[in-house]
Amino acid sequence: MVKIPHRLYLTEDEMPRQWYNMRADMKELPAPMMNPATMQPATEEDLYPVFCKKLAHQELDNETRYVDIPEEVLEMYKIYRPSPLIRAFNLEKALDTPAKIYYKFEGNNTSGSHKLNSAIAQAYYAKDQGLKGLTTETGAGQWGTALAEACSYFGLPLTVYMVKVSYQQKPFRKAVMQTFDADVIASPSDTTEIGRKILVENPNTSGSLGCAISEAVEKAVSTEGYRYVLGSVLNQVLLHQSIIGLESKLAMEKLDEYPDIVVGCAGGGSNLGGLIAPFMQDKLTGKANPRIVAVEPASCPSFTRGRYAYDFCDTGKITPMAKMYTLGSGFIPSANHAGGLRYHGMSPILSKLYHDGYMEAVSVEQSKVFEAAVMFAKKETILPAPESAHAIRTAIDEALRCKESGEQKTILFGLTGTGYFDMTAYESYHDGKMNDYIPTDEELQKGFDSLPEVPEK
Ligand SMILES: Cc1ncc(COP(=O)(O)O)c(C=O)c1O
Repeated sequence: MVKIPHRLYLTEDEMPRQWYNMRADMKELPAPMMNPATMQPATEEDLYPVFCKKLAHQELDNETRYVDIPEEVLEMYKIYRPSPLIRAFNLEKALDTPAKIYYKFEGNNTSGSHKLNSAIAQAYYAKDQGLKGLTTETGAGQWGTALAEACSYFGLPLTVYMVKVSYQQKPFRKAVMQTFDADVIASPSDTTEIGRKILVENPNTSGSLGCAISEAVEKAVSTEGYRYVLGSVLNQVLLHQSIIGLESKLAMEKLDEYPDIVVGCAGGGSNLGGLIAPFMQDKLTGKANPRIVAVEPASCPSFTRGRYAYDFCDTGKITPMAKMYTLGSGFIPSANHAGGLRYHGMSPILSKLYHDGYMEAVSVEQSKVFEAAVMFAKKETILPAPESAHAIRTAIDEALRCKESGEQKTILFGLTGTGYFDMTAYESYHDGKMNDYIPTDEELQKGFDSLPEVPEK
């Protein structure tokens, strides 16, 4: 009998050399991104003022199934990849479940999350095009940290608009970004027109990803030689993140395993889209039929209570529009410790797959998420990021269901990052001060009222 190791590391030579683009295998494609000025599908040229050229191409490329990972990107990947696939033996034992639980751990780099996978690619393409600098937003801080690392590696200046609530809760994240030379600004700020407008309308706002995106886009388009980069939601980001799923599948094959259930947390959908990519390919091509489950916070329930509609990707309504599950770009979720999951919309690719019944979604309350995080930390000795702990919660719930039914299912979940900068959140959980606020239908309606009118084609 083969002894199953706790951790399976692929070798450097086994690391995939290509990303996988799910759109190439989708029976029906996600609706095209719309240029709000013309109400026509956005072209690559429409995107050039905002994104660098190669990324604009990847954004709209629905055909290329496998995309070569540039050598320069592979070189930086090799510093921290392949990432380990870990069997949660101790957690299984504690749950007394017949289920087998595996997780893919993406927190083993300085940014502490999967975000570096796309940051490297985006910084590389920008440098390759000869750009002078980049702007971005960051919610929880992981994306900003990851991009700061990547920009510093490739020698590109970076301005980061950080959602105010995270800026206040996570001062050390800011210091890490500064270590990598990034300029970090709390959003909304008075450095942009849109930021000033939001502050006048709502001076006490804790900010949101949508609002930070508006500021970062405005800054990029008004600064010569600068472009904007986004760490989630976009098709290009899901493409880069497919490395997570491709490695997971290879590692599971080595163990002669295949997941019955794949679970990931969903903010804008990038880690989930990356983790599920090759398994979704099997589903789309009829090779296998794993269940795929997205987990979102009950405080920001884009999939489970959102509308499938065209919407802006930002609060200031300056980005192109995407058809996605959305709570409306005007929706500002209650302050939640899983900062990286506080986004009003969802990846258009995942939205389409969800709409067409290829995946499921659940929403979970914050204190139940932290209960799972603490149990996981004790059993597996990794302190998870609050975002990642959403996936842990659902993986545990699925394993407990197996305990009831006696089924020996194989569960794979994405452990997207570590929570060492989230100690305010852990503290509030330990002190019994955690708030499980769930928006009312009336509150959600206010967000839906901000949806743009887009004629159906
Ligand atoms: C650790 C971690 N996990 C998950 C997410 C959610 O993002 P996405 O849905 O794009 O994977 C974030 C976003 O900031 C994050 O920092």
